[in-house]
Amino acid sequence: MDDNSPRLVSPEARPDDRLDQALRPKTLKDVIGQDQVRENLAILIAAAQKRGEPLDHVLFYGPPGLGKTTLAHVLSNEMKVNIKITAGPAVERPGDLAAILTNLRAGDILFIDEVHRLGKTIEEVLYPAMEDFALDIVIGKGPSARSIRLKLPRFTLIGATTRLALVSAPLRARFGAVYRLDYYELPAMMSIVERAANLFGVRADNGGVEEIALRARGTPRVALRLLRRVRDYVQVRADGSITKTLAQDALSLLNVDELGLDDVDRRVLLTIIEKYSGGPVGLSTIAASISEEPDTIMDVVEPYLLQLGFLERTPQGRVTTRLAYEHLNIPVVERDDTQPRLI
Ligand SMILES: Nc1ncnc2c1ncn2[C@@H]1O[C@H](COP(=O)(O)OP(=O)(O)OP(=O)(O)O)[C@@H](O)[C@H]1O
Ligand SMILES: [Mg+2]
Repeated sequence: MDDNSPRLVSPEARPDDRLDQALRPKTLKDVIGQDQVRENLAILIAAAQKRGEPLDHVLFYGPPGLGKTTLAHVLSNEMKVNIKITAGPAVERPGDLAAILTNLRAGDILFIDEVHRLGKTIEEVLYPAMEDFALDIVIGKGPSARSIRLKLPRFTLIGATTRLALVSAPLRARFGAVYRLDYYELPAMMSIVERAANLFGVRADNGGVEEIALRARGTPRVALRLLRRVRDYVQVRADGSITKTLAQDALSLLNVDELGLDDVDRRVLLTIIEKYSGGPVGLSTIAASISEEPDTIMDVVEPYLLQLGFLERTPQGRVTTRLAYEHLNIPVVERDDTQPRLI
């Protein structure tokens, strides 16, 4: 794989992932994992239905590929309402948002992905819309300009973001419910792989399912992608059934190791260990050393390394941990107290 090609284990959507849309669970019952979020959503839905009202505005946040868009669709199915989809960067002018809002019907869901990327003037249109279901528009120019208030249907806004910290406080405060999605545990990952294998019509034994789940970084989108590649492998090199050994062979050939780390992850860890004696080292220094964007490292590479406990963020910079050395088979060199301490 060359350096510019999208990573197989990247949690961000790639063009070939659109096939996965057909695999999205449609009802809350079919959603796997995220138990606490699921339970809270069930209550939210039941309460809204009991009152005969639309859902409260909902904000989902968490790393990419964990199911934010999926859950927005599930909510629209469960509430039996339409869902209109847009994304922060796509809404360029206040008029764009006004057009979307005035076209909604009562109860409809408006899903705004990457909600942290909405412009300030757009957000200001959203505040009265979320709070009072009203749209303030200015008619005319100069001294004769006047503002009129249009009534909007009662709708539900669902926002999704990978960067909660970048969602402005006034916007965040207007969501009635805020849910964090976290990396999936192994049993849930295994169920997701198993369900997808069934839908693909590919046989996979328990060991094969487990091997894919282990290497998918707790991220359903990555699991589905690895499953597709392993399916290709077993259809070409074997009889089409996925076993543990075949999954290991296929994924090793793709440079995805037993914890789901790929070359980019290894380069980040090795840079810190070999060039900076384990850190602390600043994000931009790491990025420059391996010719990646600091944002990519922070949003796409680091979260999983932090989750594994291979990396720690300290006020002085990034530090690799003993676990990272062990995983990479590098002996830990004990240092004296005058040196930055290895965690
Ligand atoms: N709980 C789940 N159970 C089964 N499959 C899931 C689950 N969550 C996600 N998936 C699958 O993973 C894929 C990625 O999920 P989704 O597109 O909802 O991620 P996302 O959180 O919106 O990511 P992004 O932040 O990149 O928009 C979906 O196509 C879906 O098939
Ligand atoms: Mg999404």
